[in-house]
Amino acid sequence: MKKAIVIGATSGIGKGLAKLLADNDYKVGITGRRTELLELMKSENPNSFFIQTFDVTDTKTTVEKLEELTAEMGGLDLLVISSGTGEINNELDFEIEKRTIDTNVVGFTCIADWTIKYFEKQNYGHFVGISSIGGLRGSRQSPSYNASKAYQINYMEGLRQKVTCRKEQIFITDIRPGLVDTEMAKGEGLFWVMPVNKAVRQIFRAINKKRKVACVTKRWGLIATVLKLIPGTVYNRM
Ligand SMILES: NC(=O)c1ccc[n+]([C@@H]2O[C@H](COP(=O)([O-])OP(=O)(O)OC[C@H]3O[C@@H](n4cnc5c(N)ncnc54)[C@H](OP(=O)(O)O)[C@@H]3O)[C@@H](O)[C@H]2O)c1
Repeated sequence: MKKAIVIGATSGIGKGLAKLLADNDYKVGITGRRTELLELMKSENPNSFFIQTFDVTDTKTTVEKLEELTAEMGGLDLLVISSGTGEINNELDFEIEKRTIDTNVVGFTCIADWTIKYFEKQNYGHFVGISSIGGLRGSRQSPSYNASKAYQINYMEGLRQKVTCRKEQIFITDIRPGLVDTEMAKGEGLFWVMPVNKAVRQIFRAINKKRKVACVTKRWGLIATVLKLIPGTVYNRM
């Protein structure tokens, strides 16, 4: 059986993906801060799921828990970072910005680095990060969220360049979803919100194909292309 870890598997995209991986004969390590939700998932599929509770912003504990989890599972082929946070922050409340950066930048980097070093030791592996189409441009409503997703996109490109130069059998997949119907996508006026199951199936397909970058869905890929083309002078007034 292949072995995968999904960081942020207690809800939304991470939970859906963890279940789909388990249905496809993976042993899956699932993590998050809400232990009771991890235990519930394990009780529904005790043979496939392995659980560890930790907060990704606590980087020391994160590394210890990842070591424990991989030892318990007997190795690692695939790691997906789906943990993330983002809030509307029109008032520029610094606590919100800091929480976003600690989770999406500091926590993300700690896990990505640990994973790549683990894969480099065994000379194979697949790292997947769930970034966002939001990372392609800034946002007046949630500046730190979009900036943190831009960081993830850029960081994964850097990691890809690193492993490609060393000709290792290590793959990096950057998944960029549009709006998905999860706890995170709340608010008025949202459009083209896709069901979690649909997003997760497309993400699973992109992982199997070892895609470098995948926008989910294709429709959102179109938005991504248009977003990148909008001149700054026009974008600033939108
Ligand atoms: N939904 C969308 O429209 C959308 C669009 C583009 C990209 N994304 C990205 O997709 C990813 C998954 O989000 P989602 O939509 O599935 O949202 P979600 O349902 O809120 O899931 C977020 C997950 O991250 C975990 N998490 C958050 N902060 C954490 C922390 N400090 N330490 C450990 N785990 C933490 C949560 O677990 P606990 O609360 O149990 O810790 C939860 O499992 C995120 O990176 C998000 O930015 C979402």
